[in-house]
Amino acid sequence: MRVPGVHEHPAVADRDGPGHGLLVVQLRDVRGYHGRRRRRRSAPRQRPGVLGRGRVHRRRLPGLALRVRGRRRLQEAGGAGVNTAVLFDRYGDPGVLYPAEVPDPVAGPGQVVVRHTAIGVNPIDWKILSGEVRAYVPMDLPGGCLGVEGAGVVVEVGAGVRRFRVGDRVIRHGRPGAFREYEAVAASQEADELTLCPDRFSDEQAAVLPVAAGTAYSALRQVGLRPGERLLVHGASGGVGLAVVRLALLLGAGEVVGTASPARHGLVRAAGATPVGYGEGLAQRLAEHGPFHASVDCAGGAEPTGAAVRLVAGADRRVTIVPDAAAQARGVRFLEHLPLELSSTLDLIGTAPFELPIAARYPLEQAGEALAHSLRGGVGGKIVLVPGGEARRRATP
Ligand SMILES: NC(=O)c1ccc[n+]([C@@H]2O[C@H](COP(=O)([O-])OP(=O)(O)OC[C@H]3O[C@@H](n4cnc5c(N)ncnc54)[C@H](OP(=O)(O)O)[C@@H]3O)[C@@H](O)[C@H]2O)c1
Repeated sequence: MRVPGVHEHPAVADRDGPGHGLLVVQLRDVRGYHGRRRRRRSAPRQRPGVLGRGRVHRRRLPGLALRVRGRRRLQEAGGAGVNTAVLFDRYGDPGVLYPAEVPDPVAGPGQVVVRHTAIGVNPIDWKILSGEVRAYVPMDLPGGCLGVEGAGVVVEVGAGVRRFRVGDRVIRHGRPGAFREYEAVAASQEADELTLCPDRFSDEQAAVLPVAAGTAYSALRQVGLRPGERLLVHGASGGVGLAVVRLALLLGAGEVVGTASPARHGLVRAAGATPVGYGEGLAQRLAEHGPFHASVDCAGGAEPTGAAVRLVAGADRRVTIVPDAAAQARGVRFLEHLPLELSSTLDLIGTAPFELPIAARYPLEQAGEALAHSLRGGVGGKIVLVPGGEARRRATP
């Protein structure tokens, strides 16, 4: 039976069997209980949560026999606790980010609520934060929220949603807003914000797939890479660059040559490409491995552009993922993302080995530090944020 604002927490339901699940009660939606709850000194501010220790009176929630076990139990199950979001009120550097307690989202029609278990950090986050891309990624300020990818579990399903059920592991991608523990996400295929997570991917791996692997997939399709061809990848040691190398090999590339700093040549080699150091004389060094059939530039700048133009014939076989008018003027086309990019990427990967190195993990509350890390560069893989509830759940024996 479904009562507005009340849902069974899947983790506990799974563990205890039908009829014994802990019920999460969204206090603001349960008439008659809200006021009483607010009078309790220990009540958590604002957020819907668990009804503490004690029992729920049937007359207040008619038809439901509830067994409520207390807040701590639910937190152990990875459920409600404090819904943390990392927000910003003005454009600036990572120091302007601050953690805040925000109300739990409610799944509206066509939406699901996702509890994030891992959230990916990307250069686009600090680009949005600085305001440099505000023309095409405008943010509602104050209270802006970054984060364009994450993985999690569906904890509530809104009216009309058929694609997802409570308990599904999902990958969230697209518009900014993932730097929060619980989020309402559009569930339709057309919205293209949510994809079922294949079992084989860990939460962290799933969280970092959309930007790195999705972008890599679109880039490789755009240059039309064919089996046996030689590919040049600039910035091959970055999140997207490593994914380009891995997917190119899955597409049957004959050889992949990737530019990176010497400290990260091992990473590039482990992904399956031949590393070449970037910097002065790049085109000459690359010429020893070329010419190439196609190139993907994940670094940007005059030298990578010059090398691509010199060593790859035809503008339709060169792409850059870094917006750069000069590169486009010289015949390196800018990336166009394909529709349903992530599902196509997952189809291509199938059951093949595919893992991106996780270079660093930060608690969600430390998103500012994580962004500063990405901004400094030299990451050598992906950075992930771990929400507090998830960290607590993982710490539970
Ligand atoms: N258009 C899109 O939709 C789209 C999507 C995703 C990303 N991007 C953009 O693409 C860029 C890369 O993203 P990412 O997530 O891969 O970032 P990342 O993980 O921070 O990687 C950046 C990479 O660039 C390399 N690099 C820096 N200077 C270089 C140079 N002169 N020559 C060759 N490589 C150089 C770094 O190599 P070392 O660490 O070895 O120094 C590093 O591997 C960012 O600007 C991002 O905003 C665009």
